[in-house]
Amino acid sequence: MAMLTDRFGRCFPYLRLSLIEACNFRCSYCLPDGYRGCGAPPPLRVDEIRRLLAGFSALGLRKLRLTGGEPTLRRDLTEIIATAAATPGLQRVAMTTNGCLLERHAARWREAGLSAINVSLDSLDPQRFLRITGHDRHAGLLRGIDRALELGFAAVKLNAVLLRGLNDDELPAWMDYLRDRPVAVRFIELMRTGDNADYFARHHLRAEALERQLVEEGWTLQPRGPSDGPAREYAHPHFRGRIGVIAPYSKDFCTGCNRLRVTAQGDLRLCLFGEFGIPLRPLLQSDADLPHLVGRLTGQMTLKQAGHGLHQGRTGITPHLASVGG
Ligand code: 5AD
Ligand code: SF4
Repeated sequence: MAMLTDRFGRCFPYLRLSLIEACNFRCSYCLPDGYRGCGAPPPLRVDEIRRLLAGFSALGLRKLRLTGGEPTLRRDLTEIIATAAATPGLQRVAMTTNGCLLERHAARWREAGLSAINVSLDSLDPQRFLRITGHDRHAGLLRGIDRALELGFAAVKLNAVLLRGLNDDELPAWMDYLRDRPVAVRFIELMRTGDNADYFARHHLRAEALERQLVEEGWTLQPRGPSDGPAREYAHPHFRGRIGVIAPYSKDFCTGCNRLRVTAQGDLRLCLFGEFGIPLRPLLQSDADLPHLVGRLTGQMTLKQAGHGLHQGRTGITPHLASVGG
């Protein structure tokens, strides 16, 4: 089968599809004033999503992640999950959510075919969580995560953006949390985007000290599988959970890139911090356009660059990660 590959020998079995740019949280590093996007074109409809996935499926798609904004704000989310789960060749449909509807809907999503879930949880402390995300239903979120664990998802992972002075002292609390829970928490280094330069200067923190602390406490780095993402994952014999570190500023971050992104309006983005989008929506209006879609996808891959320009402060056309689905 044809595979999507680039000039650097990387292949792309993994697609991150944003379902909606809007979000109901106000994470201080992402949408500190809340989402303000009125007037934006509506997100892809279910039939457009089905055609998009058929195109990627013909090019070796194995794993899909639904993102946003906040994907659970889509009224038709269950239908989208079921449509995605029916895509030939797709082995895993995952979703990243802020967790606001997890407790209420996780069972429905699981039933529709969602196989894995990532929940953003920047702090284990409710007051701090409120301060970082503008959202105060921390307890409900924790219940939602435990609910997801009961439902037998292939993986439940938590994302915590590492923030200097805001949540960088919580390792002991996380260890308590992970002792008996089979979840992986990933500490993500804050990334600079178009809108958050001042915040970045104040709160960016490299994960190196955290990794040293983990090793000192007996955690060991796990070997990275060929289809794994960029996380460096640590395990410990006394803990059911795992701890991962995602360091976008580290040397090898882009060499292992295996993913492409499509925005909520159907623009292909070759990189999280790329300089341009490639409109796919015009090719999603009829099943008969499938060959053109496949042609556009393969044709554009030569434009994918070796790495992002974050080290030079170049954040591309990404004002915040809600615009490209993280
Ligand atoms: N840097 C790092 N992580 C971010 N996220 C959103 N914005 C940023 C940023 N600037 C995270 C969210 C969520 C995931 C989708 O991306 O916290 O967990
Ligand atoms: Fe919403 Fe995610 Fe951005 Fe937070 S990081 S404001 S949950 S899109």
